[in-house]
Amino acid sequence: MLRDSVDLDALEQNAQRVMRPESWVFCDTGADDEITAKENVQAWRKFKLRPRVLRDIVEIDTSVSLLGARLNTPIMVAPTGRHHLFHTDGERATARGAAAVGALYVMSTSGATLVEDVAKERGGAPQWFQLYMQPQREETGQLLDRCHKVGFSALVLTVDQPVPGWSPRAARTPVIPSDKVRSVNMIGQPIAKTAYDPDRKGLAMFPTNFKDLEWLVHRCAMPVVVKGVLRGDDAGRCVDCGVKGIMVSNHGGRHLDTTVTTAEVLAEVVEAVGASAEVYVDGGIRRGTDIVKALALGARAVLLGRPPLWGLSVDGADGVAAVLTHMHQEMVRAMQLCGANSLAALTRDLVKA
Ligand SMILES: Cc1cc2nc3c(=O)[nH]c(=O)nc-3n(C[C@H](O)[C@H](O)[C@H](O)COP(=O)(O)O)c2cc1C
Repeated sequence: MLRDSVDLDALEQNAQRVMRPESWVFCDTGADDEITAKENVQAWRKFKLRPRVLRDIVEIDTSVSLLGARLNTPIMVAPTGRHHLFHTDGERATARGAAAVGALYVMSTSGATLVEDVAKERGGAPQWFQLYMQPQREETGQLLDRCHKVGFSALVLTVDQPVPGWSPRAARTPVIPSDKVRSVNMIGQPIAKTAYDPDRKGLAMFPTNFKDLEWLVHRCAMPVVVKGVLRGDDAGRCVDCGVKGIMVSNHGGRHLDTTVTTAEVLAEVVEAVGASAEVYVDGGIRRGTDIVKALALGARAVLLGRPPLWGLSVDGADGVAAVLTHMHQEMVRAMQLCGANSLAALTRDLVKA
């Protein structure tokens, strides 16, 4: 059983030991030379904190509202696919772990668990659904209706993977198709193909454009968030299409290598969006101080991708909960040491580039 205080480096090593080799590679790999995957982590460390002293930091308020839902932590679980590679209960275990600590879980399109079953694990915490647009709009629409019906409260459209990236490591140690990695929520969907990989069966292969986004915002009963934005001008255009949230993300460096890191571009996106939408960020967040920096730079919340999967593989739902609790505690300590007693007190002046 993992304890609340988790050594993330040790947990990662432990996760590698317990996962099958192809599952580990699927979880860990970045695209091409894996430069972005590594630089995401380092980029947060390059920002320096400018702590305030002599502030009242006994009571710390970490509550936040995300698209109208009140949460006690600004830490969310990022959408990641194929959780049955990491635990027999798959996405249900992840959802349970997040719910146990009141954290928001963003469920991926790519998983072998039905949205109806994940929704049952919600507890008191909200859940969002992440979508890859599919070629047939109405079948996508039907999936959105199912998500809305069972209580998912926002839709996250991922846009940074119009075609799959290339991972030499994953090519050497591939995940073999099986029921464990079937995207069950999309059954009945035609298979999207691309010129790059015409035989590939699966999701995320259908390039999406701003017209599709407008359609989606109009069609979807839930507020729409766009995930995978790295530029202020793109963020502005998404907002013009009616989206309510922007996720600054480079997909953990899994598709296009050598992009800018999310830490570097967060402030640009925040400035472009202003008060028109909420901004969230993921990529390489491994410390409470990283979270404090992200929030000080204007993010409303952060998402963790790989760390919850390490927890999931080692200790199921409890492992996910332990990772989230640990990161939350680190964030609270960093806030206290910075002289900030609420998320509102995490302002831009706390960070020096
Ligand atoms: C194993 C794995 C699977 C992922 N699957 C998805 C996915 O299905 N949809 C999506 O939008 N992002 C996916 N991502 C990207 C994450 O949502 C997130 O952007 C990224 O992992 C954040 O970086 P971090 O892992 O350094 O925290 C995946 C990431 C990983 C590691």
